[in-house]
Amino acid sequence: MKTITVSAPGKLMLLGEHAVVYGRPCIVTAVNQRMKATVELTDEPIFSLDAPDVQVTGYQKPMDQLGVGDPLTPLAQKDSTSIPKGAKFVEIALYNFYNNYKGYTKKGGIRVTTKSEFSSQFGFGSSSASTVCVIKALSEITGANLDNKTVFDLSYKTVLDIQGKGSGFDVAAAIYGGTLYFKKGGEIIEPLNVDSLPLIVGYSGIKADTVTLMNQVLEKDQLVVEGIYTDIGKLVEQAKPALLNKDWATLGKLMDDNQKLLSELGVSIPKLDQMISAATNAGAYGVKLSGAGGGDCMITLAPEDKIQAVKDGIAAAGGQVIEVGANVEGVKVENG
Ligand code: PMV
Repeated sequence: MKTITVSAPGKLMLLGEHAVVYGRPCIVTAVNQRMKATVELTDEPIFSLDAPDVQVTGYQKPMDQLGVGDPLTPLAQKDSTSIPKGAKFVEIALYNFYNNYKGYTKKGGIRVTTKSEFSSQFGFGSSSASTVCVIKALSEITGANLDNKTVFDLSYKTVLDIQGKGSGFDVAAAIYGGTLYFKKGGEIIEPLNVDSLPLIVGYSGIKADTVTLMNQVLEKDQLVVEGIYTDIGKLVEQAKPALLNKDWATLGKLMDDNQKLLSELGVSIPKLDQMISAATNAGAYGVKLSGAGGGDCMITLAPEDKIQAVKDGIAAAGGQVIEVGANVEGVKVENG
């Protein structure tokens, strides 16, 4: 039977989170911790999934029940709410692919195994990366040979089907890799020619839920929030040339400004604030949280001679320094 293995990188938001959901640009970089998916076409019309990193093992259902919450629920009452959390993205990705590319899908089943190099707790985008891996793997194994933008559209649809909202920046990073200037829904996906990005990353130890954070912001005064988004959008525009020129001092200042605005949005938390202050005090160029906030990671840029002090400061504040390289290759076929 045909088998293919595909990998896609995780991501870190450099600047522009939240505002990007409301039409402003952001900058995202792909990191060198990857998600891998092996997809096998089988004879029996059964979908099976092993995703041990998210506690899914031996999950199975008939192919004609893809996307249906309970295997016994009739298709007419299709709802994805009771699919186990760890299986949702892979299953809905499959469902969307089969629905859109019927001509390429033959009778029989599919076995998927995912394996991550990073913890799903970090907020590196494991759900989006696994969605991208599955769509790309199906595209290759069935001969549909979709281009990157089509893989993006289908993967983004999958994320929206499950989360209801989001910009798609994480999907773009998983597909295109590198460092991207990005606008919601892939309206702009512009690779930035960056050859190095010496980020230091600290994990807060707290798992954040992106949708909860997005909803939390919706409860604030939307006039104020819109003003903050516009300011964030402006600093992202300034960050683009700074990044391209490796002007880390300017980029760091913009990261600090972005963090202040994120605090005004109310998405930072004391633990992140402590880690951020520690990095600032140790001489970093600039520091901010990365992603929705409420936990996950902070990122910082520091002068060469301050890197160790910044890392020590993050650890002393109770953070876990994670060694990651940025600006890495997007989705790729590992074998097949
Ligand atoms: O929590 P993360 O790392 O998935 O980042 C979310 C970033 C948001 O801008 C809040 C949402 C989005 O889809 O852009």
